[in-house]
Amino acid sequence: QASFADDAAAIMALKQTRNAVVLAHNYQTPEIFHGVADVVGDSLALAREAQEVDADVIVLAGVHFMAETAKLLNPSKTVLVPDLEAGCSLAESITAADVRALKAAHPGVPVVTYVNTSADVKAESDICCTSGNAVKVIESLGVERVIMIPDEYLAQNIAAQTGVEVITWPGHCEVHERFTPADIRTIREENPGVVVLAHPECPPEVVAEADLAGSTAQMQAYVEQRQPATLALITECSMSDNLAALHPDVRMVRPCAMCPHMKRSTLVKIRRSLETMTAEVTIDESVAARAREAVEKMLAIR
Ligand code: 13P
Ligand code: SF4
Repeated sequence: QASFADDAAAIMALKQTRNAVVLAHNYQTPEIFHGVADVVGDSLALAREAQEVDADVIVLAGVHFMAETAKLLNPSKTVLVPDLEAGCSLAESITAADVRALKAAHPGVPVVTYVNTSADVKAESDICCTSGNAVKVIESLGVERVIMIPDEYLAQNIAAQTGVEVITWPGHCEVHERFTPADIRTIREENPGVVVLAHPECPPEVVAEADLAGSTAQMQAYVEQRQPATLALITECSMSDNLAALHPDVRMVRPCAMCPHMKRSTLVKIRRSLETMTAEVTIDESVAARAREAVEKMLAIR
């Protein structure tokens, strides 16, 4: 059986022969994040980097919607996912027909769609957002009311920050919905002085107990700038593992929850996808053109 080191060495060689780059989300395991990735980041950074990439092949170590976004922004490049089954409970919660029904029920209200959705759903939307730019995106519209889909909690958390009224959809992240306010209270009792950062996919009552809510990149930026002595990240497990390796002086409390979709990527599967050039992500051009517009509108907001 090949070791991590053999797989990592094979991936490094394949990246050369295929002229490929590996883009990895912050929730990928340390051997991917620290070992073979060329670019790591939150959903926003990965979308921005996908736009800049100068390679023939992009391997998106993350989940399917992230690979779709990379393909939308690079229609002429080959975009590979290590496991086609790597989905997302948010992306699965809503269809294009659902969005059309929402628009019919609320005519004229702009649709702001979280990137954690299929290209079909993005194609029905006015603009996309990520957890890292949702406030800016909503404020850029200059309206009092938006349809913000599909993450109910993200929408409620952003509404609280912006004062913009949100029409929501009952989608939830199966990882972040598991955290409770009691979890945070216990962490604080057991770790005096701990800084608690929560992802805005957590329920609003959980965010209310945290010191700050932000995307995974915003969590990383906080740690880099503030170097807290003790830190609890209310998010997916690998985030703490990856940051702990970068900041050995920060004591990490690890109240993590695992995302089974993110964990479908492994070194073995990344190696296989570069060896066989599978699984390739494709998007019907009639859908892609409209979905791309919603993503590009988001990326134009700085
Ligand atoms: P960000 O990295 O954009 O904060 O997203 C978190 C997430 O759950 C992605 O699936
Ligand atoms: Fe989807 Fe949540 Fe997993 Fe992110 S962590 S891919 S939002 S299920």
